[in-house]
Amino acid sequence: MKDFVQFFGLHEDPFRITPDIDYFYMSSVHQEALGALEYLLESEEGFAVIIGEPGTGKTITIRKFINQLDNSVEYAYILFPNLSPEEMFKAILEDFGIDIPSDSSKNKFFSILRDFLIEKKEEGKKVLIIVDEAQNLPVETLEELRILSNMETEKEKLLQIVLLGQPELEVKLESPQLRQLRQRITIITHLRNLSYDETVKYINYRFAKAGNPAVKISDSVYENVYKYTDGNLRKVNLLMERTLMSAFVENNQFIEDRHVKAAAESLKFKKKRNINKKGYILTASISLLIFIFATGLWIYLKREPVVAKETKVEKSIKPEKVEKKFATVKAYMLNVREDPSRSSHIVYLLKEGDKVELLEKKGDWVKIKINNTEGWVKEKYLFKD
Ligand SMILES: Nc1ncnc2c1ncn2[C@@H]1O[C@H](COP(=O)(O)OP(=O)(O)OP(=O)(O)O)[C@@H](O)[C@H]1O
Ligand SMILES: [Mg+2]
Repeated sequence: MKDFVQFFGLHEDPFRITPDIDYFYMSSVHQEALGALEYLLESEEGFAVIIGEPGTGKTITIRKFINQLDNSVEYAYILFPNLSPEEMFKAILEDFGIDIPSDSSKNKFFSILRDFLIEKKEEGKKVLIIVDEAQNLPVETLEELRILSNMETEKEKLLQIVLLGQPELEVKLESPQLRQLRQRITIITHLRNLSYDETVKYINYRFAKAGNPAVKISDSVYENVYKYTDGNLRKVNLLMERTLMSAFVENNQFIEDRHVKAAAESLKFKKKRNINKKGYILTASISLLIFIFATGLWIYLKREPVVAKETKVEKSIKPEKVEKKFATVKAYMLNVREDPSRSSHIVYLLKEGDKVELLEKKGDWVKIKINNTEGWVKEKYLFKD
């Protein structure tokens, strides 16, 4: 046990960053997400999607949900979903504890899974497939999930699917290949950072859970924690843990602003927003927003039509042959467009390290091919192999 834990009269570290459901705090956004998951189970809908920035609580929320399921529901939980369709079927079957012959093909997996689902339906059970970090699912695997979700008996659906992911998932779902999937998603919720008031309650809740509801902490500490973290719960945990350590090193049981400041500096957190005690954004921020809006509007009214301009560029540039045949993606995420224009549809989402085939060039755009999908990306985001 870390020494600061005893020093503050706690029985464990209240701000560990593992998604531990004993510490689950029911904020309004988390309640909404849990409500959406409960609704999925009661309904005959096929999909629920939960989108949230990193650290907003997707994983802990699904764990909380799973924990309260009774044995009328069977679920498979897939966490590392950078999987081909075959690998995904295998992972689902393994999670359900089903033995699979080693030489199985995708079709074989599909039929084993169908038999399992029918068996469960006969037992009167619901089956859920939950994919966490679903922003990493390749487009073709997502499409395969849709096909899977079509499985039904004459009367009833055989399974329901929950996708949890960072905002890139929402971008991916916009790609034309996933149009049919998108149409089937009727339940979608967004997890957001907490408000100032809820952040304060969250911190106090965690102290109380860990054994000391009366840790001495000045009001401005809460304000500073909020300013540095913007109510992002992973960040709140990281910052609070370091803050406690910083006070402990000083042998000081009263947590003060300088401890937060030292902690934030060591974590390289920068202040994000201004708040007053009631959690309202200061008038200054509102004025800034109005200013940004007015400037934006002015630029918008004065602009040249972007689409037309890009199309013109695209037409005036002759296609060229590419010198190299293959390249690797440099960017963390890279949208592939239908045409060489930023305003064109996204057809695929590449990730850092993906290998692509190069087909032709137009200006600073290059046409690539990956997994039978073709589209355009800016050349500067690729390393030539
Ligand atoms: N409602 C909550 N109650 C208690 N703790 C929470 C809550 N939401 C988030 N946390 C804490 O914040 C941290 C991040 O949560 P979690 O891992 O669930 O985020 P995530 O959205 O899944 O992030 P990522 O996209 O990086 O996977 C965890 O330490 C978790 O304990
Ligand atoms: Mg997560």
